[in-house]
Amino acid sequence: MILINGKKAAAELRAELKEEVAELKSKHNKVPGLTVILIGDLTPSQIYVRNKEKSANEVGLKSEVIKYPDSVEEKTVLEKIQELNSDETVSGILVQLPLPKHIDKQKVIEAIDPSKDVDGFHPMNVGNLSSGYESSIPCTPLGCYLLIKKIEPNLSGKKAVVVGRSNLNGKPMTQLLLKENCTVTITHSKTKDLKAECLEADIIVAAVGIPELVRGDWVKKDAIVIDVGINKTDNGIVGDVHFDEVSKNAKALTPVPGGVGPMTIACLLKNTIDCFKRSQI
Ligand code: GUN
Repeated sequence: MILINGKKAAAELRAELKEEVAELKSKHNKVPGLTVILIGDLTPSQIYVRNKEKSANEVGLKSEVIKYPDSVEEKTVLEKIQELNSDETVSGILVQLPLPKHIDKQKVIEAIDPSKDVDGFHPMNVGNLSSGYESSIPCTPLGCYLLIKKIEPNLSGKKAVVVGRSNLNGKPMTQLLLKENCTVTITHSKTKDLKAECLEADIIVAAVGIPELVRGDWVKKDAIVIDVGINKTDNGIVGDVHFDEVSKNAKALTPVPGGVGPMTIACLLKNTIDCFKRSQI
């Protein structure tokens, strides 16, 4: 069984991106810039944002974090986004989710210029991805996709099952696999026989937020299994896949932690650089 090392893959991607940033700097005499807006003081969000800033600096991006208290008015945030949209030194804008209840998430997402939407959440990017056009691609599915391609460069005709249909993970993951000519089944909490669906799969991506849902006898011998789950349990953090059981069957499996997680931030940096490159054409 191949234990997919997301930490190593992310470090390799960051090293490539660092070189690319250096090349862009010598060519354009400027570097891509990432601005993150953080509202409130939720601990997980603060940790994510700190890691994003650290990684951005590491590869040589210009990085900025704008912090607002929980009580900030929606209008203030929308005005700041408008300002960042017109700022040439800002290549990518990310508003850390979740947002306080009084702020309309969709309004905020739609305020971001689609060409600076490094999350790939703007409806324009969602539409472009599903139409097969160039777009920003949400960071976690992009990270999963790159890990799958490392194991199996030719995905054409493979059967893929995506467990979970969120806008953040399941839906964009499906689009990426479709683009690679996979036959994709999206499953979710109302799927009748999830085990039977998973047993058909050459590739399983589990992104449903249910601890250790995917069991050993759900997985075909030699399947590639990608675990997006991060679930807090009494036994610590576990994924959506039962690691010990599935590792006996699968050809390749991501651990939690150390699998998809590290790739997500590296892909955010990639998206920032890609937004910059498109803006220079
Ligand atoms: N909060 C948790 N994951 C994400 C993400 O991928 N993007 C944003 N903007 N917020 C998040």
